[in-house]
Amino acid sequence: MTAAARFEPSGPLRGDYTPPADKSISHRAALFGAMCDEPVPVRNYLDSADTRSTLAALLKVGAGVEEADGDVLVRGVGLRAPLEATGGLLDVGNAGTLMRLLPGWLAGQPGGVWTLDGDESIRRRPVDRVAEPLSAMGARVDAREGRFPPLTVRGAELSGIEYELPVASAQVKSCVLIAGMLADGSTTVLEGAQSRDHTERLLRRARVPFERDGSRLTVSQVDELELDEIVVPGDPSSAAFVAAAATLVAGSRVVVKGVDLNWTRTGFLRIAERMGAVILGDLEEPGTEADEEPVGELDVASAPLEGTVVEPAEVPTAIDELTLVALLGAFADGETLVRGAGELRVKESDRIASVVEGLRGLGADIEATDDGFVVRGDGAPLPGGVIDAHGDHRMAMLGAVAGLASSEGVEVVGMDAAAVSYPGFQRDLRTLLA
Ligand code: S3P
Repeated sequence: MTAAARFEPSGPLRGDYTPPADKSISHRAALFGAMCDEPVPVRNYLDSADTRSTLAALLKVGAGVEEADGDVLVRGVGLRAPLEATGGLLDVGNAGTLMRLLPGWLAGQPGGVWTLDGDESIRRRPVDRVAEPLSAMGARVDAREGRFPPLTVRGAELSGIEYELPVASAQVKSCVLIAGMLADGSTTVLEGAQSRDHTERLLRRARVPFERDGSRLTVSQVDELELDEIVVPGDPSSAAFVAAAATLVAGSRVVVKGVDLNWTRTGFLRIAERMGAVILGDLEEPGTEADEEPVGELDVASAPLEGTVVEPAEVPTAIDELTLVALLGAFADGETLVRGAGELRVKESDRIASVVEGLRGLGADIEATDDGFVVRGDGAPLPGGVIDAHGDHRMAMLGAVAGLASSEGVEVVGMDAAAVSYPGFQRDLRTLLA
């Protein structure tokens, strides 16, 4: 992915905007649909490279997938998939969520063997974090050098475990909870700072015996899942790029429609507000436990910003937007410090290195720390320059937003990476700038 695109300093962004469907929920909706016995309609399934990888992988494990007008009908094979429909090489492409969640299901299919592999970026991302708990449950799971894809999963009769997450990861949490539905007895996951809870909400909706007691999540073995239609809300992580642009470009006012306001996903909005951003909306109250995703509107207007400190406990609810916090920090007055975000080093790129190198190239005063970064601004726009997306969709979109808000424009090398989560990104920007 090397196509370059140039983003000139822009006039204000104005109008109504509907973000694309949520990526995390789309992956989970398709996977849960595949584990059901009855067909599950998924409305507003995200059309992107990552979520297409999920549909292709589910087809390969025997599920049926019918696509029509942005909706997908998933014809599942049941929680305990028939063995004749198993086996083979599954290509996850760039999709970390698919790489970490699907093994939870496969691990509970005795006699089945699958190998999951993907692109160059996925091959640098750790999978020992799922291999370890799944092995403890009784599956045989082998990774390259014990740590990286390809990942081979040999299914087995699983036993329930109690597992303390070594990192705050919704992907690992989800993997263990999914395997827990197939495991003998009950399975408990202990999580520190709470990460996105879409899997938990779907478990409740699917009538799986599941409960949260503080930081202890317990799921019990179940025979079947029952799910009716799943409607995927707009993606707050995709909307965050437009919200950041509307905050930074003077005179902007954008109303974001149909966006997921789940509190485990809206940490960025709370951080941005603390910096001075004007973002009105009915954000879900932190700590809420629910079955459904809360969907609503955000009204974003441009505003001057001040630096802030992002503490480790806030990191999981803003994990995919922390690079945007760096961008806001570069335009803010004062120092912005992000701590406890070492996980950024193992995302689609090393996002600490990518954002520090990228924003420095545009004129920012930014330094990496072991577990985050510190950026200092004086409230003036960044001049601009060239930024390399390093094949990372979120870095590509960050470069575009930086360009609109800059004084001289930004060239983004590898802009086509945006298609991993948001193929319509440039078109949506153009509409808001028209
Ligand atoms: C995701 C969880 C997060 C996030 C990723 C999507 C998910 O990853 O960064 O983009 O859908 O569960 P980790 O679980 O590795 O933190």
